[in-house]
Amino acid sequence: MNWWETDFVTVRGNRLQVAGQDAAALAERYGTPLYVYGKDRILELYARLDDAFSRHSTLPARICYAMKANPHRGILRLLRRRGAWIDAVSPNEVATALKAGFPPERILFTGTSVSRADLRAVFAVDGLTVNIDAAEQLDLMNEVKREFPSKSIRVSVRWNPGIGRGFNARVITAGRRSSDGTPIKFGVEAKKVISVFTRARKLGFHPVGLHQHLGSGWVREDFGMVQAAVDRMVRKAREIEKAGFRLEFLDFGGGFGPRYLRSRGVFPVEDYIAYISGAVAKAGLSVEALALEPGKYLVGDAGVLLLGVEYVKESYGNIFACVDGGTFNTVPRPAIYLSAHHEIINAGRVEGQSRARITVAGNLCETGDVFGRERSMPLPESGSILAVLCAGAYCRSMASNFNLRDIPREVLI
Ligand SMILES: Cc1ncc(COP(=O)(O)O)c(C=O)c1O
Repeated sequence: MNWWETDFVTVRGNRLQVAGQDAAALAERYGTPLYVYGKDRILELYARLDDAFSRHSTLPARICYAMKANPHRGILRLLRRRGAWIDAVSPNEVATALKAGFPPERILFTGTSVSRADLRAVFAVDGLTVNIDAAEQLDLMNEVKREFPSKSIRVSVRWNPGIGRGFNARVITAGRRSSDGTPIKFGVEAKKVISVFTRARKLGFHPVGLHQHLGSGWVREDFGMVQAAVDRMVRKAREIEKAGFRLEFLDFGGGFGPRYLRSRGVFPVEDYIAYISGAVAKAGLSVEALALEPGKYLVGDAGVLLLGVEYVKESYGNIFACVDGGTFNTVPRPAIYLSAHHEIINAGRVEGQSRARITVAGNLCETGDVFGRERSMPLPESGSILAVLCAGAYCRSMASNFNLRDIPREVLI
């Protein structure tokens, strides 16, 4: 078995199967480029989190799908039926979640650089919880609240615990500065958290929770640092309770992902849930629920992108599989993060003697428009289908029409 195989992507007769169907046949039926998502895989991953909470915690769990990862309507409905909650980061995400049937009580809005218009839109949704990203945001909130005089608005505080973790400098979301020196814009600084709770209550808001999100794309080696951040969160929650606030929930954000790379260990999600549950129980906090916000984890490896090879080109000793999609329009992560890796499989011939080092080149006017550089695979030919794995998260949702190319069709099977 290959390291990347799951119930969703498998190999039969040296051909790639996606959700139990021949990948090349799917490409033939729907055309390429094509995103294919697997319902069963998403539900399996959801169940793993749900089961881990049932095993390790006596508190109810809120699995808040970070819909920015992939707001496909079918995926939202699937998760809503399973009892998921939603992490939404813009009024349009809130509106999309409502349209998919999520009750407002199951939506947490976590904005950044939030505008008055954003606040107006989310305050209008009865029962939704608004996560506060800055002490200064309360001034705007106070101003907009006057338009909703009789309303009780639930709020929580996104704090920045002073340490963060992510696979790339651009997705480390806590701490003072990211690993490349960028000042981190998210969350309320530790020393200001109690005063934000106090002022929020004084202004007539109803504070109900504490939230953190450290970053994205953790691997096994990150577990120690993540545990330290859980400890910080629990200590801060105790301080908040001592200051006279009752916390309904603690939300530990997202960050744990699927396996993108053979060489990196998988983040131990179940141990993480056990650790959170144990730390909260030991601290004797009176919280009623624990929350996580998985994005990548639930949908990342439940999606592939199928690409058709137009021709194979040789130039100065380089071999290119020239495909019918562009990274920016389909799987932009490698173009945005550089260190992001997506495994690429020759769907019609997964293994073979005549392997070559292939650069998979997209159809955009940009040198960086490559899905993978010098990947060893059986030599494709014109008409071959290549599958880009782990294309379920932050691919369609980050895709643009750069070069006025279309964004591919999506199928959920
Ligand atoms: C507030 C918040 N929660 C959750 C997530 C989901 O992160 P991931 O997809 O790594 O689980 C993000 C991602 O940016 C986020 O900003």
